Amino acid sequence: MRNIPLKEQSIVLIGFMGVGKTTIGQAVAQKLYRDFIDIDEEIERRFQMHPKEIFAKHGEATFRQYEKEIISEICHKRLKVISLGGGAFLQKEVQDICFATTTVFFLDLSWENWKERISLLMDNRPVLQGKNMDEIRKLFDDRQPIYEQHHSRVITDNQEIEEVADYIVASLKLAWELYE
Ligand code: S3P
Repeated sequence: MRNIPLKEQSIVLIGFMGVGKTTIGQAVAQKLYRDFIDIDEEIERRFQMHPKEIFAKHGEATFRQYEKEIISEICHKRLKVISLGGGAFLQKEVQDICFATTTVFFLDLSWENWKERISLLMDNRPVLQGKNMDEIRKLFDDRQPIYEQHHSRVITDNQEIEEVADYIVASLKLAWELYE
């Protein structure tokens, strides 16, 4: 695999569902004059089905397979900002491809703040459906070690979208100066 220079690597945002990967990713893309790609939207566009429908009709394993194939293809593109679905990093192959080709930011939101958003997420997130609060908390906690693998962490509690995006852009510019 060819090495992509740091400055040209795509930026990948990871984190639990509903932490703001898409809105923050769009803001970062705009600030860096890059294209933004949301993997869930890309899956939906290609398969003409919402992720919720893919889960219901074909099962989670099929969704994960699509997700992995599309991420593997898109991460090789340079100069993009990419937001991953909250479960994508569960797959080791996805982690490996992201670390080999992109710069990975973890959007870290505390449970206390995340749970305020839950009513906005329930309808469209198949992995939350049928779960009670304790089970959702467990899923949230179980996923954290997965996201602990990243290049850079961004604490998003009580931060505006623009503030988080500015922080990401500033830290990228610093890394580009230091390491290129
Ligand atoms: C999922 C998160 C969703 C979507 C799918 C599965 C997960 O993306 O990929 O519903 O397993 O956490 P968001 O993180 O954008 O909500």
